[in-house]
Amino acid sequence: MSDDPHIPDERPRAAPSPWRATVLSLYPDAFPGALGASIIGAAEKNGLWMLDTVDIRDFATNRHRTVDGTPAGGGAGLVLKPDISASAIDSVAGPDGTFGGRPLIYMTPRGKPLTQDRVKALAAGPGLVCFCGRFEGLDERVIEARQMEEVSIGDFVLAGGEVAAQAMIEACVRLLPGVLGNSDSATEESFETGLLEYPLYTRPREWEGRDIPAILSSGDHGAVARWRLERSKEITKARRPDLWDAYQKRKSET
Ligand code: ADE
Repeated sequence: MSDDPHIPDERPRAAPSPWRATVLSLYPDAFPGALGASIIGAAEKNGLWMLDTVDIRDFATNRHRTVDGTPAGGGAGLVLKPDISASAIDSVAGPDGTFGGRPLIYMTPRGKPLTQDRVKALAAGPGLVCFCGRFEGLDERVIEARQMEEVSIGDFVLAGGEVAAQAMIEACVRLLPGVLGNSDSATEESFETGLLEYPLYTRPREWEGRDIPAILSSGDHGAVARWRLERSKEITKARRPDLWDAYQKRKSET
């Protein structure tokens, strides 16, 4: 090997490691679940991303493999024990105690609502580590001590974090390079405008007495684009006044 800086270094480089999701759960059998299907599952088989699961119960220390306790101060439900939860988390960390730049996310209905902007940032990074709760929740000290990012997928309560984790991971993986064909990228762009998607139609031209709007068969691409934008605006205004207000504010600023 030459030390001459003018001669290119052609030694083989290690392949970059793919985007990686590590999920900690009491129900690892729930994975890959939806993440094994269709393009997301195919993308994993093709090495575009990888998924590994850790069974939190493997870190239980007594012979009953207990992972939960009653809430201090009383009340209903059970709380995941801090020592067991932390052992599970720490088993995934490197020697420096980090996850190689991957954030540690705790799925919980009291978390910050997941947005497409956060999904984009997560997809642009090396991956994520995701802790799925069950029972009433996780001991607060673990959340503090391991600086967990609390994330919710919506204002409703699931029985556990597994389905929420799958939703978040799927939203990230579809943005990874090579996962989607061009077909879906347009949909992504339509969300980019901050408006909800316009209505879609396909043949037959008439179905149960309902016609496809004539303008869509006109061949006038400009007219089609204007029609779609108007429908997007109507739908957004009616269903999501919050998005509509934000859209108008952005428009008035540009
Ligand atoms: N766990 C239970 N409900 C949840 C939600 N809405 N989002 C994230 N994790 C959850």
